[in-house]
Amino acid sequence: MLIARDIVVKHRRRTILHGLLFRAEAGQVTAIIGPSGAGKSTLLGTLSGDQPFEGRITLNGRDIRGARPAEMARQRAVLPQAMPMAFPFTVAEVVRLGLHEAMALPHVVAQALGRVGLAGREAALFQELSGGEQQRVHLARVLAQVWAPVTGGAPRWLLLDEPVSSLDIGHQLQVMAIVRAFAGQGGGVVMVMHDLNLTAMSADSVALMQAGRIVAQDRPGAVFTDALLGAAYGCAVAVNRTPRDCAYVLPQVAGGPGG
Ligand SMILES: Nc1ncnc2c1ncn2[C@@H]1O[C@H](COP(=O)(O)OP(=O)(O)OP(=O)(O)O)[C@@H](O)[C@H]1O
Ligand SMILES: [Mg+2]
Repeated sequence: MLIARDIVVKHRRRTILHGLLFRAEAGQVTAIIGPSGAGKSTLLGTLSGDQPFEGRITLNGRDIRGARPAEMARQRAVLPQAMPMAFPFTVAEVVRLGLHEAMALPHVVAQALGRVGLAGREAALFQELSGGEQQRVHLARVLAQVWAPVTGGAPRWLLLDEPVSSLDIGHQLQVMAIVRAFAGQGGGVVMVMHDLNLTAMSADSVALMQAGRIVAQDRPGAVFTDALLGAAYGCAVAVNRTPRDCAYVLPQVAGGPGG
């Protein structure tokens, strides 16, 4: 379990997260959604242990406040929303950034790249890749870091900030299949998402954020309502159901042909 209680985060004197409660279970995919500026990345950074906070966070039953960086690195891998590379790294070098020296072996790098559809691209220059390819290299780095979803009986965690934001539908589904498989094997996944339909189809639990608070956390079917989404995003949406009872969301465009 990953449990965050009474979390307050401040930047200078401004309060960004207002005493919120968040929980994620191993074996599940938990999504964080909400409008831009709601505090999703701040919450993910706080869960990662990369952000000073008030309150208490336990990861697999242990308080993260006292945890050493090496211990945190064994238990979770973090994909930040933006990770600019200042130097002309190759793809293989970027993937190796996430690895302990003893694990930074060519076959580990090759397998991680293969999982994100970039097999054989080790020698390419990271800066010369497309935006979506760069995003998948970072995902490979994160996957290489945690590798097995469970070690020594304890789940490992993937903390991903908008992992599919630059990807086409085929690669989005590939990434969702990776995170579902990771959770299916006992690992924990927390991911920040803007694509509501992909979220409804992929997540077991959804935390909806607005203005530094979690306004609802529940299964997608309970969070995806016209009222909750419309209020949080400040726009008109219509939630529908597929024949398999999965929610999907249509924006309501004023004056549009579909309206
Ligand atoms: N380092 C910082 N210093 C000051 N304010 C910050 C800092 N990081 C974030 N904030 C503020 O905190 C609020 C929440 O930011 P955050 O990045 O968590 O939003 P978000 O929900 O991830 O948005 P988006 O969907 O645009 O990525 C914003 O108003 C932002 O300006
Ligand atoms: Mg963000």
